[in-house]
Amino acid sequence: MESPARLQTMLAMFIFLLLQSGREVSSITLTFLKITNGLDHYNNLTLHCLCPAKNSDTGFRSLLPGQDFSFLFQPGDDGNTVWFCNFAWPGSRHYYDVYVPTRDVDCRQCLWMVSDPGPCRFDNVTQSYTICYPWNN
Ligand SMILES: *[C@@H]1O[C@H](CO)[C@@H](O)[C@H](O)[C@H]1NC(C)=O
Ligand SMILES: *[C@@H]1O[C@H](CO)[C@@H](O)[C@H](O)[C@H]1NC(C)=O
Repeated sequence: MESPARLQTMLAMFIFLLLQSGREVSSITLTFLKITNGLDHYNNLTLHCLCPAKNSDTGFRSLLPGQDFSFLFQPGDDGNTVWFCNFAWPGSRHYYDVYVPTRDVDCRQCLWMVSDPGPCRFDNVTQSYTICYPWNN
């Protein structure tokens, strides 16, 4: 069992480290990104996603129709890091930039619905997935 004194020391150390890196901490604004499988429910198409990144790989995900996965990331130390994902389902394979700093500058929460013609981003104005772009390839 942890003694209260030990916990206090750990807490103090944590706060110290936080303050030490205060400048960086305050400049970090994380972006939330969610990807939902919006493929044909009738055919029960599983969407396979792979979103590699420089420092944090989100790994390989398989989503049943309607399922989603999400992650937080820092949109670029240099301000122009593009995040892309590889998507695959039976008979199709695409890749897509899920975060482009210049295009997605307005989105702190980027919610994507992936369907056959291409992904669409959630629009706060229409309250639905109406910001659509074609596949990169
Ligand atoms: C959909 O596909 C998954 C994975 O192949 C399977 O486990 C599930 O039972 C299927 N669901 C339906 C409703 O067919
Ligand atoms: C939409 O609204 C949510 C919640 O208020 C906000 O966090 C998000 O940044 C907004 N997204 C855009 C694109 O404005």
